[in-house]
Amino acid sequence: MSQFTGKTAVISGGAEGIGLSIAKALAEQNMNIVLTDINEENLKKASLELEATGVSVLSVVLDVAEEDQWEVVAEQAIARFGKVHMLVNNAGVGGDSTSIENQNKKGWQWVLDVNLMGVVFGAKVMVPLISEHGEGGWIVNVASMAGMGGVPYGGAYSATKAAVVALSEGWAGELESKDINVSVLCPAFVQTRIYNSERNRPAQYKSDTKAKVDENSFFNRAKEMVESGIDVSIVGKRVVEALNDGEFYIFTHPNYREVVQMRSSEIDAAFKKASESPLLQHIVNQKIKML
Ligand SMILES: NC(=O)c1ccc[n+]([C@@H]2O[C@H](COP(=O)([O-])OP(=O)(O)OC[C@H]3O[C@@H](n4cnc5c(N)ncnc54)[C@H](O)[C@@H]3O)[C@@H](O)[C@H]2O)c1
Repeated sequence: MSQFTGKTAVISGGAEGIGLSIAKALAEQNMNIVLTDINEENLKKASLELEATGVSVLSVVLDVAEEDQWEVVAEQAIARFGKVHMLVNNAGVGGDSTSIENQNKKGWQWVLDVNLMGVVFGAKVMVPLISEHGEGGWIVNVASMAGMGGVPYGGAYSATKAAVVALSEGWAGELESKDINVSVLCPAFVQTRIYNSERNRPAQYKSDTKAKVDENSFFNRAKEMVESGIDVSIVGKRVVEALNDGEFYIFTHPNYREVVQMRSSEIDAAFKKASESPLLQHIVNQKIKML
């Protein structure tokens, strides 16, 4: 029996890709699974696949950008399983791959609504449920390596993923007293269909003028990069391993360590510069009052 046995996890964007991989790994831990996704057909297929392994699955269609739909998921999860212990905020989209001057508002809004507000709404609705039974629980937010350093021509995606990392850091402190462990998953490339997120773009986020894809964009090669990534089945297992170890940042690509280290070194060097500035000498040794 593991610490997860018999407990209930709610997973967004769970019909395929990383969400489904996490759902399968949690099902292997004998958790009850509340599988949600915007794509009803794929959701049905994924739920049947999971059920066939003998776990209890509730599937609910959910667009994470719609707060009232999260309320429906909460009601149905409680009606079926009585309690919720874990939220996996996984649903996400790649968005437009374009230069600063070619971006359009609807494209930005879509990525903000799904990748950021989807995470915010999920936590807003599920945290009260996870804290009310007193058994503790988990929030796993799916960010990206793009949240550890911005990607040129991928402004909206990088911005939302960095925001999810920052939110997770804040929530870890905020939810400690409620015995809810927060983690943030930051994968690099994983073999999924993220490069074709367009299939999930609702009509209200479609613009008359399609955002011009910049040929310099790294996202232009997104399919090729994603297909060269790690097998998606590893990710769910890695999440379970990391949760068992109480890891906050969950990495799936140890080969990216140098990239993040380089950023940390640049930040440290910039602090050194500030500490040498004649303008700032009066606060160099000032003690900080932590919040
Ligand atoms: N695949 C990668 O290389 C990679 C790398 C880093 C981070 N991620 C992140 O992993 C998460 C999962 O992505 P994936 O790679 O499995 O992509 P995917 O496109 O294969 O799967 C995404 C799932 O989310 C669903 N979805 C899309 N919009 C939704 C919405 N508004 N509401 C609810 N569900 C919605 C889709 O139907 C799909 O089932 C995302 O947050 C993504 O940013 C992926």
